Amino acid sequence: AAPSVTELVAVAEEVARAAGRLVHDGRPETVGVAATKSSAVDVVTAMDLASEDLVRRTLARLRPDDAVLGEEGGSTAGTSGVTWVVDPIDGTVNYLYGLPAYAVSVAAVAGDPDPATWTVLAGCVHAPATGETWTAARGHGARLDGRPLALTTAPPLDRCLVGTGFGYVADRRRGQARVLAALLPQVRDVRRIGAAAIDLCQVATGRLDLYYERGLQPWDLAAASLVVQEAGGVVQGLRGAPAGSAMTVAGAAARVGELTTLLEDLDADTGP
Ligand code: IPD
Repeated sequence: AAPSVTELVAVAEEVARAAGRLVHDGRPETVGVAATKSSAVDVVTAMDLASEDLVRRTLARLRPDDAVLGEEGGSTAGTSGVTWVVDPIDGTVNYLYGLPAYAVSVAAVAGDPDPATWTVLAGCVHAPATGETWTAARGHGARLDGRPLALTTAPPLDRCLVGTGFGYVADRRRGQARVLAALLPQVRDVRRIGAAAIDLCQVATGRLDLYYERGLQPWDLAAASLVVQEAGGVVQGLRGAPAGSAMTVAGAAARVGELTTLLEDLDADTGP
């Protein structure tokens, strides 16, 4: 039988908390860089790898027939039609420096693990350094530490606090800096907190009015996009596209529409 979304969210939370304990309690005084990916500043720590390993072993025990897509380990096939999309540490650079904004993000999706077509069933974003845990189950709402979240209408765009993030490659960053320079004079202020999953959950919690970023990957987006949607918000791309690597815009519907138009005018979804 198909699992219920409430069963799946319980699994997501159990797995994210276990990995969160590992990375938080086991953080060494000095975190070493185990490898680099797309550029010299795109780092993987030993804890990213250990966290993903723990998540995979726990999921193999709890949900042996499901597939897994993880940021560090790629994809493992399954037979159930459910895929777990996992970021073992979102905000790795914060983790490296001892800043608290990092999280384990775990989501169950139906269909291919592609933001353009998937249905996110359940997800958990757990930030062990602050102790905050966001959960969402499709059709059952979003919660922060068990408290239901409901997005109220955001203020006018010029009074919005907007979160964003940057990729790791210089050419992409040049484009992101151009868009930021155009946007910054038009909003209350901009935050670059450094963990996309947490930023999206902060939108659902009302601590940011809007979030946008070019280049988000499925594991940045899966759990947190459901948290925003179940809190009553919208997560979308530009020009009618779904949220995804070209552009993700999140917030209350009216403000997302305004920011989307502005980003479209800036061609924020094109370039490297
Ligand atoms: C990154 C963070 C960052 C965002 C980047 C992501 P990672 O994830 O979420 O805030 O701007 O696009 O790649 O590398 O820390 O898992």
